[in-house]
Amino acid sequence: MTKDNKDAAEDYSALIEAALNVRKYSYSPYSNFKVGAAVLASSGKIYTGTNIENASFPATICAERVAFTKALSEGEKDLRAIAITSSYDEFVFPCGVCRQFMVEFNPQLTVILAVSKEKYEIHKLKDLLPYSFTLK
Ligand code: THU
Repeated sequence: MTKDNKDAAEDYSALIEAALNVRKYSYSPYSNFKVGAAVLASSGKIYTGTNIENASFPATICAERVAFTKALSEGEKDLRAIAITSSYDEFVFPCGVCRQFMVEFNPQLTVILAVSKEKYEIHKLKDLLPYSFTLK
């Protein structure tokens, strides 16, 4: 079984559910676009994040980076997968800044774009950010 087939067989329902549930904490008064993310660490723990906006727009933080920094700052070294959800009925791809941020830690990261527990698609970060800049 290839790695990709193995991923497709993996049960990401708890991770997707966490990402869907955390959207309610999104602070997004400027865009009204709620994003929820959940990261799965090799410890088995799940870390969630939402987008947190700011009146000074560039100070906004995306949900993916909030979830990642929560996990990393709790000592997690091996982040395996991230589920990303939004308040819209469509798949949301991580922005370029988040792709670069995440590739630092795991180019093999599994990225699950989810609308619901039933409707999702699975990608690899290395495919979303080919020829990426890293110093490792
Ligand atoms: N946003 C995320 O949280 N993640 C993404 O990958 C795309 C964009 C947020 C940032 C901002 O609060 C809102 O979505 C609109 O851009």
